[in-house]
Amino acid sequence: MKIKEIRTADLNPEEFIKQKVNEISAAVGDGLAINAMSGGVDSSTVTMLGHKALGDRLKTYFIQNGLMRQGEPEQVVSLFAELGVHIELLDAQAEFFGALKGITDPEEKREAITQTFYKDVFGRLVRESGANHLLQGTILTDVDETIAGIKRQHNVFEQLGIDPEKTFGYKIIEPLVQIRKDGVRKVAEAIGLPESVYNRMPFPGPALSARVIGEATPERIEIVRQATVITEAELSESSAFQYMAILHEDRVTGMRNGERDFGLQMEIRCWDSVDARTATPTRLPYETLEKLTLRIVNEVPGVVSVTYNITPKPPSTMEAV
Ligand code: XMP
Repeated sequence: MKIKEIRTADLNPEEFIKQKVNEISAAVGDGLAINAMSGGVDSSTVTMLGHKALGDRLKTYFIQNGLMRQGEPEQVVSLFAELGVHIELLDAQAEFFGALKGITDPEEKREAITQTFYKDVFGRLVRESGANHLLQGTILTDVDETIAGIKRQHNVFEQLGIDPEKTFGYKIIEPLVQIRKDGVRKVAEAIGLPESVYNRMPFPGPALSARVIGEATPERIEIVRQATVITEAELSESSAFQYMAILHEDRVTGMRNGERDFGLQMEIRCWDSVDARTATPTRLPYETLEKLTLRIVNEVPGVVSVTYNITPKPPSTMEAV
């Protein structure tokens, strides 16, 4: 079924909220629902819509998959506690790293995360909680790119002919599927989320594993995590749409303390974009790039080379995996 897009220019956030709250209430009825919250604008908005519609009958989880950024789980839980929403932290790191072990192909990596998330972790939560619905923040761009075969977004099923009820044992509700990122930001602001959330930089569902080319081991994720802290600190003033550090699979010859160091290489990307469908690299000041590079090679163990990617999307995509 073709999804009817609500263009951002035509979106009335208050009306949208009312309509979606009603739709969620009608779909879940007297039942229970669960949702996963990553702290991103999409899942935060869905969490607020869901709690408005269902109150305590929605249980919200933060899945600690071991792939999140530094301090992210704790920050998200405490921010939502301030908004009156309780989030349960669920440690599933061993499960995710087990599923990612030995996988280097990007699509297989996404599939491993999808299966672990929806079948294993959520399947279990649904069985234990008695919930029959899962709320999630799929947006139209996720669906478009999956259908086009560009990237299998981890949260798209029905449009691929997968019936979540048969495959995973629960129904999926996607309140944001008619809008895009800029539309979600408007709804997020209207529903009372703070600016740090509604203007938050996008972050992919597969999290830091989308930024490790090749196998996403705990050690390689940790390297990207450290580089991400530095990249986000150094580029926070850039007002770019999104920026990221990526760990390459190949090593290159470098030198440290006068000795050969066959070390790691990282790539920085920084994007200007409105809706992530197309994007151009930000023309960052050379001084900014220089400072960022020096911090990464000095502070992240093993890195001897940092590059800045200036390819637009298309033909690039924004994430490397
Ligand atoms: P790409 O790499 O497809 O990214 O040009 C476009 C936007 O989508 C985000 N992204 C994802 N988000 N699950 C998500 O929830 C995914 O699998 C995924 N892949 C990419 C990316 O960060 C960018 O903002």
